Amino acid sequence: MTEKKVRAHTNIALIKYWGKRDEKLILPASSSLSLTLDAFYTDTSVAFDSSIQQDTFYLNGVLQNDVATKKVSHFLDLFRKPAGIHSPALIKSTNFVPTAAGLASSASGMAALAGAANEACNLQLTKRELSLFARKGSGSATRSIYGGFVEWQMGTSSTDSYAVPIDDADWDIGMLVVVVNSRQKEISSREGMKNTVKTSPFYSGWLESTAKDLIEIKDAIYSHDFQKMGEITESNGMKMHGTMLGANPPLSYWEPDSVVAMQLVRQLRQEGLPCYFTMDAGPNVKVLCRLTDSDKIKKRFETHFDSDQLIIAKPGEGLKVLSE
Ligand code: ADP
Ligand code: DP6
Repeated sequence: MTEKKVRAHTNIALIKYWGKRDEKLILPASSSLSLTLDAFYTDTSVAFDSSIQQDTFYLNGVLQNDVATKKVSHFLDLFRKPAGIHSPALIKSTNFVPTAAGLASSASGMAALAGAANEACNLQLTKRELSLFARKGSGSATRSIYGGFVEWQMGTSSTDSYAVPIDDADWDIGMLVVVVNSRQKEISSREGMKNTVKTSPFYSGWLESTAKDLIEIKDAIYSHDFQKMGEITESNGMKMHGTMLGANPPLSYWEPDSVVAMQLVRQLRQEGLPCYFTMDAGPNVKVLCRLTDSDKIKKRFETHFDSDQLIIAKPGEGLKVLSE
């Protein structure tokens, strides 16, 4: 029995994915771009075992219920089919990131599961194929196959919607993650974006401007223009949240401390410390900064937050197999 543990890191989008054009195939309505982080990740192993009755999924050592297991089972079927495997699987996964709190556990979780399934089935998929498969588990997981800055190209069909690495982020870049609240959110990203697409009158404007932001941020990344990259990141994230606010019912993931964190970023900028915020489907705030400024910025945040709420992340690497 082959049982390899595979690690995938989370990624935080600088240009957000918020909305699908095909919910079943998980095809996005726009392309997106992210930074993979070293501080948060998932380790997963898959072992096929004909002596068990059904797929069995442990997350953080806890046996998961039917709903969570079914999601994983359906995803594994995508790998079982081409490999001609019919046995149930034992899936063990550990999230070194809070689950479903807006810190991208779905990205690292589904990317690690894709990698572990690939190993267990011996399919020898390329990274591009893995990205494509991961997409069918969770859109943002496409990007966690690679390290550094990664673009998920929306593509024209299911066969060309995958992520590509665009820059290894081997320059002075980091992120301070402000954990405002690590509890599970009430509305998943999947539900939140679905209702936004359906009901927000701002949605077409969001798509138009995010396409433009993507072109501009790629220029900024290629030329290592930190200020421009930060300004576009902050603006794109806020536009996504504005679009959600326009949904019916209005959707907001913010908490009072999220606003405190964003205000502090603006204040630090006024004081001459360059840093920019972004937020996802949760109350936590991610502060894009120069790695060399990250300790200084963290210290300033300690005047409002406990130090265990503040995590400095460096650019992370792509999917990797850990052990037999
Ligand atoms: P987040 O902000 O953490 O990405 P989402 O609501 O987008 O939150 O996604 C959370 C979902 O991702 C979980 O309900 C589960 O379906 C999936 N997920 C998270 N971690 C894992 C994991 N380690 N293995 C498989 N699926 C996972
Ligand atoms: C706000 O990838 O979790 O983090 O494809 O439905 O699984 P599904 O959604 P998911 O959504 C991520 C939304 C986001 C922005 C982003 O990561 O681009």
